[in-house]
Amino acid sequence: MTRGKDEGAVWKTAAETGMMPKPILLKEEIMAITNTQSGTSVDEIADGIYRISTPIPGFTFNQYLIVDDAPLLFHTGLRRIFPLVREAVASVMPVERLRYVAFSHVEADECGALNEWLADAPEAVPVCGRVAAMVSIGDLADRPPQALADGEVLSLGSRAVRWFDAPHLPHGWECGYLLEEQTRTLLCGDLFTQGGNEHQPLTESDILGPSEAFRRTMDYYAHTKNDRQVLDRLALAEPTTLACMHGSAWRGDGAKLLRALAESLAE
Ligand SMILES: [Fe+2]
Ligand SMILES: [Fe+2]
Repeated sequence: MTRGKDEGAVWKTAAETGMMPKPILLKEEIMAITNTQSGTSVDEIADGIYRISTPIPGFTFNQYLIVDDAPLLFHTGLRRIFPLVREAVASVMPVERLRYVAFSHVEADECGALNEWLADAPEAVPVCGRVAAMVSIGDLADRPPQALADGEVLSLGSRAVRWFDAPHLPHGWECGYLLEEQTRTLLCGDLFTQGGNEHQPLTESDILGPSEAFRRTMDYYAHTKNDRQVLDRLALAEPTTLACMHGSAWRGDGAKLLRALAESLAE
């Protein structure tokens, strides 16, 4: 079901009246619900980068699809939502075209459906950091992973992604992130996780406050001392879109927000 222009107009009117935070109207009004039962939706949040989001009570699970000659999916989703995520990817491009299935760290929502994707996309290989490849994915995955070193660049065709090691931030020795360099979109995984299941696909409103409030109720950050160092490195990449795995994606001065997170974690 494609979101029509009329619905967009109503939405804008509500925002203008101050009844809700003003959403960013997405390119071409591409927003679409791909499964009416689950509410799974697809939105293009940056040029050629699609956020797939499935709500459950009180939470959301997002995956990001980067369309290029060698398309990359960041996060597989839980195994139990694989049919929903697959359906959403298929609304953008044939699933068999997928070449890379990448993820931040080893947990069910990040990579639980990895083998399902490998089965349905015969050309696809897992992409992760070296630690994840060594410790888990070399064994768990049905095909060998392409392990990226810290700072390594992977070409997708007309664009490229760069891997950043982020050990234990927020959790997992193997944790890391990808920056899509053309749009400066940081696929930032569990950073800035926002609770709740009703979110704009892309916002310029504050996400630090809500995500820090959520962190204080769920102790999901590793108790590490390296967080400022890792966040500073990510800030130096100057992302302008943060593709969060839970909640809205965000657009703005990413370096400033990452440094604000470091300050908040230090309190
Ligand atoms: Fe996680
Ligand atoms: Fe997650």
